[in-house]
Amino acid sequence: MASRNKVALVGAGRMGSAMAAGWLGAERNALPPEDLILVCPRVSDSARPLVDRYNLKVVETLDAKTAAEVGRVVVAVKPQVFPKIAPALSEVVREDALIISVLAGTGLTALGRVFPGRPVIRVMPNTPGSIGKGINVAVANAAGDIPENRKAAEDLAGVTGPVEWLDEERLMDAATGVSGSGPAYVFLFCEALAKAGEAEGLPADLAERLAVATVAGAGALLEDGLKNGTADAAALRKAVTSPKGTTQAALDVLMAPGALPALVRNAVAAAERRSRELGADTD
Ligand SMILES: NC(=O)c1ccc[n+]([C@@H]2O[C@H](COP(=O)([O-])OP(=O)(O)OC[C@H]3O[C@@H](n4cnc5c(N)ncnc54)[C@H](OP(=O)(O)O)[C@@H]3O)[C@@H](O)[C@H]2O)c1
Repeated sequence: MASRNKVALVGAGRMGSAMAAGWLGAERNALPPEDLILVCPRVSDSARPLVDRYNLKVVETLDAKTAAEVGRVVVAVKPQVFPKIAPALSEVVREDALIISVLAGTGLTALGRVFPGRPVIRVMPNTPGSIGKGINVAVANAAGDIPENRKAAEDLAGVTGPVEWLDEERLMDAATGVSGSGPAYVFLFCEALAKAGEAEGLPADLAERLAVATVAGAGALLEDGLKNGTADAAALRKAVTSPKGTTQAALDVLMAPGALPALVRNAVAAAERRSRELGADTD
């Protein structure tokens, strides 16, 4: 008998393909290939290797017969594409199907309007998720907020990184300001570090290699410290700062009143505000 709990992945671009690769990968093997259906008008370059390797079923749109076997729908199209495909999807998706959306800025209210009565879980991944190094923030509507659905979301979204649950959807905007947009702040810091090295006389390519390795290595140390419960970011910073040394000289600049901590505070507040504005447009 055919499984009635298949997964339909609607939109298999960068994020969708990264998730699918995690579901199918030997490491987790969360999903047998025959239980995954890709819904996309064109197989993207990122999905092509998966489709070929696992011989995945691909459909342009979800018809009622196929949808009858689908118990979990993961929506990973661009937010601006969603309103165009929503009416047809809503018509065929089963009443008991769990909807998991990774759409940035599309709230539970808007999703609930498209999928009335269905359990809906909104997940916000971030870009490191495309290599399994992300972090997800999730929130469920009333129907979605049961252990079985939370587990299903953790199994599916969790392949890109751990899932942190929010009790209130409004905190999604703050989380967007931290982990959603956050990778870009770190990339900017890395760019600035390389440029500063260049300004001090280092060849540009060397300055870039030093900056990238420093950001990546510091990230790995942070992760280790958190995992082992040995050191947080402040402790690691203090450990590498000898009084009156070179690091202290730099930190005196970065930590001066109005400098990095204050700038980051303002930046996250700006992202939170913008996320709220964008959400208000779609709800
Ligand atoms: N990338 C990230 O790290 C990240 C982080 C957080 C949230 N997200 C969210 O994830 C979603 C996808 O982002 P992405 O970066 O993966 O974008 P993407 O690479 O552009 O993927 C979207 C995919 O949807 C396909 N598509 C277009 N129209 C479709 C339709 N009618 N039916 C089914 N599929 C259709 C696109 O195909 P064509 O290219 O042929 O149009 C493309 O392959 C977005 O809502 C975004 O907010 C992504």
